[in-house]
Amino acid sequence: MIPEKKELIYEGKAKKVFATDNPEEVIVSYKNDATAFDGQKKGTIRGKGSVNNQMSNFLMGLIEEQGIPTHFVEQLNETDSIVKKVEIVPLEVIVRNISAGSFAQHYGVEEGIVFDEPTFEYSYKNDDLHDPLLNTSHAIALKLATKEELNDIKNKTLKINQILKDFFKDKGVDLVDFKLEFGRLPDGTIILADEISPDTCRFWDSKTGTKLDKDRFRRDLGNVEEAYQEIMKRVFNN
Ligand code: TMP
Ligand code: ASP
Repeated sequence: MIPEKKELIYEGKAKKVFATDNPEEVIVSYKNDATAFDGQKKGTIRGKGSVNNQMSNFLMGLIEEQGIPTHFVEQLNETDSIVKKVEIVPLEVIVRNISAGSFAQHYGVEEGIVFDEPTFEYSYKNDDLHDPLLNTSHAIALKLATKEELNDIKNKTLKINQILKDFFKDKGVDLVDFKLEFGRLPDGTIILADEISPDTCRFWDSKTGTKLDKDRFRRDLGNVEEAYQEIMKRVFNN
């Protein structure tokens, strides 16, 4: 039996979440809506929901194969999937392999510096406060997660970086940086949640440096839809 969407339990900027008959699972529906700069810039990217859903599911499958649990259960159609219901840890977990975006801005360096080892940082997922950066001791003080959970999140995230970096390198793409979110199952297990997509990663073509991600929308670079289709093609072909 195909699970049905019941009531809408949450609507974010890029996804809707619906209840199902199973209290342990929800349906995520990916939207074409795009926002940037705390929702100040708004738009639509044709085909984005479909690309993000399918790419995220595929990449989570790859991560599961390497022994890291994720929320992914089953893809229902182009834009909708069943995922495990979790309590989201309100942290944006960010890894960078190459300087770009807010790192380049904060530290006054150009984009494109390849790091000797990845950087690791958290932001507090809180739109009213504009997702401020915070460190491990701040996260513990704010009771966002325990020390043990933060250790677990860091270990899992660095492994995921290695898996994704290697995967994309084979596709002729540099994984510049990305953001992950984790959730807790009712028994307290920490699993990977949210999405891994061109909305949440920076992808640069290894040869040309062409941006194949949401920066094309954020920075008005044009060919936004084409970039989403191209990165999707790279993931699923060759
Ligand atoms: P940043 O350089 O703007 O801090 O972004 C780092 C990475 O995090 C980049 O791959 C885009 C992703 N990201 C999100 O997924 N959501 C956000 O709200 C922001 C600001 C960045
Ligand atoms: N999604 C974020 C927002 O609307 C920003 C981003 O991805 O750049 O604030």
